[in-house]
Amino acid sequence: MDITGQTRVLDEAVYQYSTLTTTDQLERITRVVSSGTLSAIAGDQVREFEQHVAGHLGRQGAVATASATAALELLLECLPQREQNERVVIPEVCWISVPTAVLRSGRTPIIAPATNDLTPHWEQIEPLLHECTTAVILAHVRGRPAPDTQRIADELTQRGITLIEDCAQAWGTALNQQPVGHHGLAAVFSTETHKLVATGEGGVIATDDSHLLHAMRAVGGNTRLALPDTAQGRGNVRMSEITAASALPQLNYLDDLLQVLRPLQDALIDRIEDVAITRSILPTSVEQSPDLGADASNGSLVGVWLPTPRHSHHVADQLFRSGIRHWWPGPGDPHLAQNWPSTPTTSIGHIVDPACYLDIQIPVLDESHHPAFLDLITSALRLTEDECETA
Ligand SMILES: Cc1ncc(COP(=O)(O)O)c(C=O)c1O
Repeated sequence: MDITGQTRVLDEAVYQYSTLTTTDQLERITRVVSSGTLSAIAGDQVREFEQHVAGHLGRQGAVATASATAALELLLECLPQREQNERVVIPEVCWISVPTAVLRSGRTPIIAPATNDLTPHWEQIEPLLHECTTAVILAHVRGRPAPDTQRIADELTQRGITLIEDCAQAWGTALNQQPVGHHGLAAVFSTETHKLVATGEGGVIATDDSHLLHAMRAVGGNTRLALPDTAQGRGNVRMSEITAASALPQLNYLDDLLQVLRPLQDALIDRIEDVAITRSILPTSVEQSPDLGADASNGSLVGVWLPTPRHSHHVADQLFRSGIRHWWPGPGDPHLAQNWPSTPTTSIGHIVDPACYLDIQIPVLDESHHPAFLDLITSALRLTEDECETA
C-alpha cells in the first residue's frame, strides 16, 4: 500500500477514546441538565463517580475535583506540616503542576531522576531523603506502573515518610494485577482530555484515611461539612455533576477499552522488536520484569528508546507527518524537570536522556487496518535508520 493509502487508514483510527461512550455520556448529561441539579453537593453523579473510583481501587473513599492538580494541591493543603522546611521528593518525569503544587504548599520539591522506565526506583529516591523529607510523590507515567512501587512504599513506611501516588496518566494500569493507586496515603487521577477517562478537565483523589477525606471534602468546598480546626479556610475545587456524568460511562467501559487496545499494542511491540535502531521497548516482555509487561500497562502506548535524541526527533517528525499520535519529550517539554522554572538543572542527576525516548499511541482501529498502521510506524523507524546512518 502506498503512503496515501496507509495514511487513509488513520481516518478510521479513534484516538479520542472518550468518543466511544458518547451515547451513554449524553444520556446521563441530559438527565443532569434536565434535573437542574448541577452541583456536586446536592447531586448524585459526583457521589457515584467517587464511590466507583474508590471501589475500583479498593479504597475507603474518594473526592472528585476540578483537576488532578487541584486534587494534589488540596491534599498538600490538608496534610499537616510536620517540619519547618519540609521537602517532598518528586519524579523527574511527571508534569509541571506537580512541583508547583509542592511549592505552593510551602514545601520544597527535590527531583528524583528517572530510570529507563521513566520512573525513579528506590535506589534513586533513598539518597535524596533528608530529616526534613516528609513525603514522596511517585508518578505512574505513560500508561505503565512505576515498577518499584511496592519496595518504595515499604521503605517509606519504615521511615514514617508519606507516599503519594500520581496516577494522573494511569487509568487502567495495574501492579500485581491490582489497579495502581493503593500503595500510598493517597492517589490522584486526572480526567483531562488526553486521559483514558476524559472529561476535558477533572480529577479525583482516593485514600483510606477518613479524617483526610473529611478534611479534603470540607476544605475543597463542601459547605455542608464542618471545617477541621486546623484548616486555613475553605476553597472550591469541586467537580461538577456534568463532568461526573461524562466520566462515569467511561469508567464503566475502561476494562473493555483495555481489551480492545491490547491486540494492536502487542502487534506493535512485535513489529518494533525487529527494527535495528530500537534499543528497548516499553511495555517490555514479561520475562524481563512482570511489572513492565503489556498486561500491567493500560494498552494505550508503546514506548521505544532510540540511540540518540536525533533519532527520536527524526522518528517523531515522520510520525507527525503521517498523522500518528505520539509523544516525544524534546526540548521544553513540561513533563520534564529540566523545564520547570523551580528546578535548578544542576540538581538533577540524570541517568537517562528522555529525549532518546518516544511513545506511540494505540488507536481503536478495526483489525483489518492493523497491518497498514504497523507499516506506517515501521517505515518511520526504518527511514530514520537509513537517514541517520547516511548522515
Ligand atoms: C503525571 C501528571 N501529573 C499531574 C497532572 C495534572 O493533571 P491535570 O491536568 O488534571 O491537572 C498531569 C497532567 O497531564 C500528569 O501527566
